[in-house]
Amino acid sequence: MIVLKKPSEVETMRRAGRIVARTIRELAESIVPGKTSARDLNELGERIIADAGGVPSFKGYRGYPAAVCVSRNEVVIHGIPDDVPLEEGDIVDIDVGVCLEGYHADAARTFPVGAISKESARLLAVTKESLNQGLAKAKVGNRIGDIAFTIQKYVESNGFSVVRDLVGHGIGRSLHEEPSVPNYGTLGKGEMLREGMTICIEPMVNEGTWKVVTLPDKWTMITADGKRSAHFEHTVHISRNGPDILTVE
Ligand code: MF3
Ligand code: CO
Repeated sequence: MIVLKKPSEVETMRRAGRIVARTIRELAESIVPGKTSARDLNELGERIIADAGGVPSFKGYRGYPAAVCVSRNEVVIHGIPDDVPLEEGDIVDIDVGVCLEGYHADAARTFPVGAISKESARLLAVTKESLNQGLAKAKVGNRIGDIAFTIQKYVESNGFSVVRDLVGHGIGRSLHEEPSVPNYGTLGKGEMLREGMTICIEPMVNEGTWKVVTLPDKWTMITADGKRSAHFEHTVHISRNGPDILTVE
């Protein structure tokens, strides 16, 4: 069942989304190559979210042990923070969810750590642009397949692949609601977008194969070929005025 949100509920999600966006930015700004670890990011993130009056959506969700997912290089998503310092040349996905007054918002961005290779920079740029192109299709009367197809086409035409095993999702009182929002699909197919829907679009883009493997910790997903992966995500409200991105400052 897809839950449509009233304007007052959307405004609460927008306030949660502002905290998400600010947390991700401040975490990225705090990174010192060779020094900052994922655990440092998690601890700072927890503090920023609590000071803003929110609750981290991920901590304890199905047993996930941290407030922030930090996924580095070949880690696609759901990296569990550890003590290894981030190094110059790495790429790092910072994924944050915040619950405020019972409503969630969720976003992610992948950042360069210091100077990175040309190919990694292109991976980040293509993934970010694929999200933007998907967001542009998040309009009343379009279908989920229009978003999915658009993302897949852009990514593959740039020589990268989209992860199939993980998808975007509806969001609201629950972190994950219907509908599923895949990053691959067919124009004109899937659920029709209606005013008041709130969804997370989150392309995960790999340099090599789209196949992924889950580590024995049951969370960390890495690329099957060990090549790098990037991830960008926004929470967007389907409004009569077009795509209304909630995870911005
Ligand atoms: N952005 C991811 C998602 O929407 C992060 C979830 S982490 C989890 O699925 F721990 F909450 F699962
Ligand atoms: Co999400």
